[in-house]
Amino acid sequence: MSSLAPLPRARLASLSQCFARRLALHFPQERWNDLERGLRRAAPAFGFDRAEAFADWLSANDWPPPLLEALASHFTVGETYFFREPATLDALAQRIIPSLDRPAGIRIWCAGCSSGEEAYSLAILFERLLSPAQWERLDIMASDINPLALARAREAVYGEWSFRGTPAWLKPAYFQARAGGAYVLSSRIRDKVRFFSLNLADPAYPAAAGVDVIFCRNVLMYFSPDTAARVCAGFRAVLNDGGWLAVSPAEAPNLAADGFQSVTQGEATLFRKGNAPPASVLPPSIVATGHETVAGPGAAPPPPAVAATGATADAEPDKAAGERARRCADLGQLAEAREWCLAAIAGDKLNGRHHYLLASVELEMNQFEAAAQSLRHALYLEPDFVMALFSLGRIELARGRAASARRQFGLARAVLAGLAPGDEVAESGGLAAAHLAEIIRVIQEGAFHEHSR
Ligand SMILES: C[S@@+](CC[C@H](N)C(=O)[O-])C[C@H]1O[C@@H](n2cnc3c(N)ncnc32)[C@H](O)[C@@H]1O
Repeated sequence: MSSLAPLPRARLASLSQCFARRLALHFPQERWNDLERGLRRAAPAFGFDRAEAFADWLSANDWPPPLLEALASHFTVGETYFFREPATLDALAQRIIPSLDRPAGIRIWCAGCSSGEEAYSLAILFERLLSPAQWERLDIMASDINPLALARAREAVYGEWSFRGTPAWLKPAYFQARAGGAYVLSSRIRDKVRFFSLNLADPAYPAAAGVDVIFCRNVLMYFSPDTAARVCAGFRAVLNDGGWLAVSPAEAPNLAADGFQSVTQGEATLFRKGNAPPASVLPPSIVATGHETVAGPGAAPPPPAVAATGATADAEPDKAAGERARRCADLGQLAEAREWCLAAIAGDKLNGRHHYLLASVELEMNQFEAAAQSLRHALYLEPDFVMALFSLGRIELARGRAASARRQFGLARAVLAGLAPGDEVAESGGLAAAHLAEIIRVIQEGAFHEHSR
């Protein structure tokens, strides 16, 4: 067991620098509690029974690649699934692939591929769009720092969760169902992707030289803006002229992609390598050298500049991520909202409101089981969180779990009874306590034929 005496701040300060330098991961002061919790969780896996001793050892030693990989499997988020963020994949199909006419063959790099769903989605997309001859000459590389994720990727056997939100044709066309609910990817697609270990904190990426397209989605959001800009400069160095960089829609608005032209295609923003050399290796602000808009039919406007909220990623990262999540949710960009919720939770795991926001997004996505789980997380952290009790009650009611619904509603009413009638209920959008109590009473009366007391 790790002791619970807080780690000295000087130790956290120096370790956060090590994590930034060696793994590119961003642990500013506001996230030191997260770093500390990660160290406590990871210590036993490295043979330490005290987080203090683990932290001292990390500070005193070099971090050779095997240690970096082992640390990455504890400190990175591997969330991914097939055909995630379809707007970017549509942009690949409509804008990027038609621009790639290379007799020598097309080279793609999926950087930060986690367990492989993204790289295989790209392979499937290309398989559907290229001629047999082009497919033969296609080379898809995929990298990650987490060796456990890479092992899963190479295995190419997935559970139901990897298919959330994927098109109906995907499974029958490319997977074979196995007993126990697992799906095995067809060898034609599996064999097309070459996986390898690569740390994006490295100064250069020679293994990926000469690529036409880089997909690096939902990775840069865990790096500081400066580090993300440096990684982009590294991407630029290995891209062929006119090559493309795709990040997630949530990352694009704030990306300092110096030496790239930003291109809006439908709902996605892509970055295209320009011929001009970059102005600097570490651009000071969010400036692309140019901007081109190609809106497809029915295209939505690009996501708003997040800076307009007044929150900066530097100031309070988890708060800024929470605000971005709300903003994306308000715009109906649910996948991005979910990603920002996860980033906010990663930044402050003890904040029940982030879990509540995640539950709201999951509800919008009709993911009732996941939403209920997120609400339970919120309530574990904040047992008196009235809106979480209320929402969980409604989900349980919808799922026919009357006893559980009644319990949640009862708890919500008990908390509301302790508030003044006019008190605004947190996260309710301005509802007064008495009003919400009345709503719950009416729901209960209708659902359980109960009479108000
Ligand atoms: C949230 S997943 C994104 C997976 C996929 N790109 C997607 O969008 O679905 C982030 C991945 O970035 C990887 N990662 C984080 N830091 C990294 C680093 N310094 N070098 C390489 N990969 C890193 C993690 O191991 C994790 O698999």
